[in-house]
Amino acid sequence: MFNSIMLDVAYRLLNHGPTVLVTTAHGEQCNIMAAAWSMPLDFDPPKIAIVIDKKTYTRELIEASGSFAINVPCCAQAEMVVQVGASSGRELLGKEADNKFAAFDLPTFAASKIAAPLVAGCVAWLECKLIAEPHIQDAYDLFLGEVVAAHADERVFSNGHWHFDGHDELRTIHHVAGGNFMAIGEAFKA
Ligand SMILES: Cc1cc2nc3c(=O)[nH]c(=O)nc-3n(C[C@H](O)[C@H](O)[C@H](O)COP(=O)(O)O)c2cc1C
Repeated sequence: MFNSIMLDVAYRLLNHGPTVLVTTAHGEQCNIMAAAWSMPLDFDPPKIAIVIDKKTYTRELIEASGSFAINVPCCAQAEMVVQVGASSGRELLGKEADNKFAAFDLPTFAASKIAAPLVAGCVAWLECKLIAEPHIQDAYDLFLGEVVAAHADERVFSNGHWHFDGHDELRTIHHVAGGNFMAIGEAFKA
């Protein structure tokens, strides 16, 4: 169902500005949150930037593990994106369902190069190693990552290009504010 993506075109998985899911794992703990503020930063090696607020449990696990995954969700997952973006994994620690994957019944599969789980049903995935920059993390909540592996759903991304025609439920989602999203529109060439 998904293809591995050559790293020289991995930036295209984020270039159109989708809202993403950040997944993390450290030891026995794992977590997921929504993030609207992410972007590609460089081609080779591919790097990305993402804003991760100080209060998030995600930030604690990224700093502890030195890695994280960016999962690109689609229209069919919009409710879940809001759920995991409106609750903290920290509040679940010690409970029977002690992480959001269990609490919200989210299927995952293993990443190839990092410990963080990847969310099934997304349309693209970028496995990232943290590029530690304590000053910008502390001053701007900005985290940098080097993409060490990337994958995409071949139904909507192949040969280095997105193609959503005939797959409206797989269109990426773009958060405006307050739970209002836009789905990615039609491609055109200028
Ligand atoms: C659509 C959406 C977009 C969000 N974007 C960001 C973001 O870019 N950066 C951020 O730090 N938090 C963002 N959040 C908030 C986090 O997802 C939220 O604080 C979450 O509860 C953190 O979970 P955690 O404590 O389990 O890590 C967003 C939430 C939603 C619903």
